[in-house]
Amino acid sequence: MRRQRRPEEPKLTAEASPSIPLYDLARQHEPIAEELFEAVARVAGAQRFVLGEPVAEFESAAAEYVGAGHAIGVASGTDALYLALRLLALEAGDEVITSPFTFFATAGAIVNAGGRPVFVDIEPDTFNLDPAAVAAAVTERTRAILPVHLFGQMAELGPPLDIAQRHGLWLIEDAAQAFGAKAAVDGRWRAAGTVGTVGCFSFYPTKNLGGWGDGGLLTTNDSQLAERLRRLRVHGEDYARGRYLHTEVGTNSRLDAIQAAVLQVKLRHLPGWTELRRARAALYDAELSGIEGISAPVAAADRFHVYSLYTVRAEQRDALHRHLGERGIGSGVYYPRSLHLQPCFAELGYQEGEFPEAERAAAEALSLPLYPELSPDEVERTASAVREFYGV
Ligand SMILES: Cc1ncc(COP(=O)(O)O)c(C=O)c1O
Repeated sequence: MRRQRRPEEPKLTAEASPSIPLYDLARQHEPIAEELFEAVARVAGAQRFVLGEPVAEFESAAAEYVGAGHAIGVASGTDALYLALRLLALEAGDEVITSPFTFFATAGAIVNAGGRPVFVDIEPDTFNLDPAAVAAAVTERTRAILPVHLFGQMAELGPPLDIAQRHGLWLIEDAAQAFGAKAAVDGRWRAAGTVGTVGCFSFYPTKNLGGWGDGGLLTTNDSQLAERLRRLRVHGEDYARGRYLHTEVGTNSRLDAIQAAVLQVKLRHLPGWTELRRARAALYDAELSGIEGISAPVAAADRFHVYSLYTVRAEQRDALHRHLGERGIGSGVYYPRSLHLQPCFAELGYQEGEFPEAERAAAEALSLPLYPELSPDEVERTASAVREFYGV
C-alpha cells in the first residue's frame, strides 16, 4: 500500500460526560493507544480485513486464556448464541431452558435458531438461573439448557450439567458478560465457556473484554463441533473440500481482523484489569455495607466474579438512578423488563407474577460505575451519593 501522509493520531478522549460516567472507554484505551494503533496499522498494512491471521492468532490466545480446546471468532455475541443453537438443528416446538433476566439476545437467538425459549426463575442472590427451577422445567421437548453468567459471575453449573447429562441435553453457556470468570464445578475450577458443550462470548465495546466494534466468540472442546462452527460462520462453505462448496446453510458471521487485532492487545491486559475490577468491587462492598435500602452484589464463595458490571439491589431504584444522575454519576438499569413480559414473547403465554425473582430484579437492579480505571476516590464519592439518597 502506498503511503502518502501519516494522519495525525486521533486523541482518545471521551466527549462531555458525567463526572463519574457509567463507562469510560477512553480511560482504558488511552494508556495503551500506541499498542492498539500499531496493531490496527498492521491490519491496514496487510490489507486483509476479514478473518485471516489476526483472527486465528486471537482465537488461539483466547482459547488458551479460558482453557478451551477451540475458539471460533464470530461477528457478535448474538451470532455466537445463534450459531451454537444452530448446531442442534432445532425443530418447531423444541425447547431451550433459559433465564428471563438477561439481555434480549439470549432468548432472541433461541427463536431465530428455530426453538422455543422456556423461561425459569432466577436465584435472588446471584441473579442467575435457579438450578432447582431448571430441573422442574425439563420436558420431552427440551433440547438444551442455556444458563447466562450475568454481570460477570458464573451461574451454578453443577446441577444443570448433571440434568443435561441425564437427559441427553446440551448445556450452552451465555458467557457474553463473563470472559475469564471461573467457578468450582464438581470440585474443579473451570472457566466460563468451558463447562458446557459450547460457550458464547460477546466483545461489544463495553464488555470486560471489548473490541472497537461488534465481535463474538464460540468455545468448545469438541473438534467436530468447532469445525462445523467454522463452516457455519462462512455460509456453510466446506473450504477444505473446495471453494464455493456449501455442505449446509450457514450465515455471514466472520470476525473482522481489526477487531481481532484490538482484542488481542486488550487480552494481554485483561488479568490486571480483572484484579482492579475485583478490588474496586470489594471497596464498593465495604462502602455500601450497612446502608438500609441497598444490597451489594453477592459473590458466591465458589466463583471468581469478574464484575463486568457492579449491580446492586436498590429500594426506590429509579429515584436513586435519577439522584445519581443529578450529581453527575452514571448508573444503568440492566434490565428493566424481564423477558417473559416482552411483547414479542406474548404468544409463549407467560403472565406477570410468574417469575417473581426475575421481576423483582428488573425493578431493583442498578449498575454503578465499575471499570479498572475507576479510582478509589470515585468509588467513595459514588457510595457517598448513595448514602445521601438513603439519608444515612
Ligand atoms: C448476556 C448477553 N447475551 C448476549 C449478548 C449479545 O452480545 P452482542 O451484543 O455482542 O451481540 C450480550 C451483550 O450485549 C449479553 O450481555
